[in-house]
Amino acid sequence: MKNIRRLKILGIETSCDETAASVIEARRGDFKVWSNIIWSQIKIHQKTGGIVPEVAAREHVKVILPIIKKALPKFKDVDLIAVTRGPGLITSLLVGVETAKVLSYVWQRPLIGINHLEGHIYSNWVTEDQKIKREIQCPALILIVSGGHTFLVLMKGHGKYKVIGQTRDDAAGEAFDKVAKLLKIGYPGGPIIEKLALKGNPQRFNLPKPMIESKDFDFSFSGLKTAVLYFLSKQKIKISEIPDLCATFQNSVIEVLVQKTLRAAKKYQVKTVMLAGGVAANKLLRKTLKAKVKKELPDSLFYLPSPQLCTDNAVMIGVAGYFWAQRKNFDSWQKIKVNPNLEL
Ligand code: KG4
Ligand code: ZN
Repeated sequence: MKNIRRLKILGIETSCDETAASVIEARRGDFKVWSNIIWSQIKIHQKTGGIVPEVAAREHVKVILPIIKKALPKFKDVDLIAVTRGPGLITSLLVGVETAKVLSYVWQRPLIGINHLEGHIYSNWVTEDQKIKREIQCPALILIVSGGHTFLVLMKGHGKYKVIGQTRDDAAGEAFDKVAKLLKIGYPGGPIIEKLALKGNPQRFNLPKPMIESKDFDFSFSGLKTAVLYFLSKQKIKISEIPDLCATFQNSVIEVLVQKTLRAAKKYQVKTVMLAGGVAANKLLRKTLKAKVKKELPDSLFYLPSPQLCTDNAVMIGVAGYFWAQRKNFDSWQKIKVNPNLEL
């Protein structure tokens, strides 16, 4: 490998229901995004109101090579391949990893297996204006909120993570998806609830804010979903009341997430606070957390990924790959392994 600080990286992401490939170029810690191709299976999974793993894997198989070709039209024009190896759906992960293995072997390029959650964290390193380099100081605290995960992570340095809080049941995004299913308003629930909540009154109904007062940094969202279920079984909700229920539900989730993140940031005296994962696309969450950090932790840095990099993508996988490459931590195509339960 010529110059390890200046790398062109192919990122591949297939852990769930998005087939994604991207080419980024790292130049001393800034990242130029040459391509960011995402093939979403949402339309297919809308029919079942959720993901059927076997169906997801078959779709990945169909589109993975055309997506990579679109992201990287010029054969083997990269220095490194970074691919998500877990956590996620095993059959979906295998499609990305097996493809990356073949490319690594045929192109004779090094390979790095990436943790999907670490990828979400690194979406914070990419700015829309490439001249602005983000100065992220550690220890940093990252709230990762997605369809499959809710984690508060303390980052002590590149590759050094400690999970200080997590959900005991449903993930935050999963709660959005399940409540949307109960309300029969579509899939995925997050963006739909966010849109409806704009027209709703968040004070109209009473919903719990689970574990908001607990001393630890864990979360629980299944009780909130059940509260919505009870509410709907007790009374017939009018169509005109759905925005109010969406706004109340969204507020409950956001209040819990923000309050716990702030408490953790104070306890661990972090220098940077960041948000990541699909739910980080939520405008109210972004705005509320930003305002609270600014007010209560004025000396901390605060970063948000750009909205299109919150949900699953391969740019974040390439960026994580860059930092592993700096530590000369490569995998070989003979040894890389998929792990559906990979931990940070
Ligand atoms: O990170 P992601 O693309 O996939 C996983 O790794 O899980 O996250 C998808 C999740 C879904 O649950 C979706 O409902 C949620 O992120 N989501 C949102 C918003 N956009 C996506 N939740 C709340 N507000 C949004 N705007
Ligand atoms: Zn994700």
